[in-house]
Amino acid sequence: MQKKILLLGSGELGKEFVIAAQRIGQTVIAVDSYAGAPAMQVADAFEVINMLDGAALDAIVARHNPDFIVPEIEAIRTERFYDYEKQGITVVPSAKAANYTMNRKAIRDLAAKDLGLRTANYRYATSANELQKAVSEVGMPCVVKPLMSSSGKGQSTIKTQEDIEKAWKYAVEGSRGDVVEVIVEAFVNFHSEITLLTVTQNNNPTLFCAPIGHRQERGDYQESWQPARVSDKDIAEAQDMARKVTEALGGAGIFGVEFFLTDEGVYFSELSPRPHDTGMVTLAGTQNFNEFELHLRAILSLPIHEITLERTGASAVILASENSDNPTFTGVEKIAALPKTDFRLFGKPTSRPYRRMGVSLTYDTTSTPVEEVVEKAKAAAALVKVHA
Ligand SMILES: Nc1ncnc2c1ncn2[C@@H]1O[C@H](COP(=O)(O)OP(=O)(O)OP(=O)(O)O)[C@@H](O)[C@H]1O
Ligand SMILES: [Mg+2]
Repeated sequence: MQKKILLLGSGELGKEFVIAAQRIGQTVIAVDSYAGAPAMQVADAFEVINMLDGAALDAIVARHNPDFIVPEIEAIRTERFYDYEKQGITVVPSAKAANYTMNRKAIRDLAAKDLGLRTANYRYATSANELQKAVSEVGMPCVVKPLMSSSGKGQSTIKTQEDIEKAWKYAVEGSRGDVVEVIVEAFVNFHSEITLLTVTQNNNPTLFCAPIGHRQERGDYQESWQPARVSDKDIAEAQDMARKVTEALGGAGIFGVEFFLTDEGVYFSELSPRPHDTGMVTLAGTQNFNEFELHLRAILSLPIHEITLERTGASAVILASENSDNPTFTGVEKIAALPKTDFRLFGKPTSRPYRRMGVSLTYDTTSTPVEEVVEKAKAAAALVKVHA
């Protein structure tokens, strides 16, 4: 059962996935737009291409003829995936899942219109004028996001009439790919947000991880923790929505399904059909299998009997503050000396302001209040400094 996996995207999440795959003897070719990317460092082979270029993608798929294509990022010419599926290659979790989540429109319309899930009220706009009209329909405050973007790029909140023009310009600058269109969403006044890691399996039931709480800043997560405190009613609602949307997308693998929790109930926000960055908390040994192992097992059709919560855990990001072609770290001995603490340094060859270079991981018994474990993760991450 040695399979060949073409991994599209070679960041820190890809790296942990490759490590999980290597541990059970799989072959992985890691792909990204630059050499020396984290997942390439542990893969069997690598390719450097622009993954938005369909011809370049076709060429490496033909060259390697993989059993599986595993996307790690959104910015891929995912339209090509339908053909690869027809050729007999398994796209993970499915060509539809990767294609629908590449663009916020496809996944949002599927969730809200086709499946009837509760989401923020939303409209689309392709110009500053249309944005004016859209804002008047959803009301202020509202959030504007390019249809093709991630990590908060091009995203802003409109609070007053004057913000509209600025929000349009900012969204255009932050847009990736060839579409300049935005989604405008009513601002959801949530008391917390969670990622519900959902594992779909071939021939076995869908499983859910304990909910992961997280805090976002500038569009990227800063700390995540597991388990998040969520009422039984909200969990049931979130699981029901996650089951519906993952079923509609099809295939086997892990999905990071994002929800906002409010006093009026649970709102579906978006999802990643792959391991989620906030799910790095599972590297703290919070579960019997971490999110990368779960993804791999689901892909290979290895049955997952159950997912158990073993510890309370937290992760906090270690960010760079400067541009560098040779980033170095200090404080590693200090974090290493802490009890019930671990860390990852991703081995990224370059740094830029706010680039995620590593994470701290803390854990304790399941009876320990999660807030305590989060504070320890923050303090641990703060010990590590990235230098240019
Ligand atoms: N309608 C909304 N109301 C309130 N907050 C929002 C809304 N939409 C987004 N946010 C905030 O912005 C964050 C990022 O939004 P979203 O997940 O849609 O974008 P993203 O760029 O795809 O992020 P990522 O790819 O890193 O998950 C959310 O986690 C949430 O904190
Ligand atoms: Mg998100």
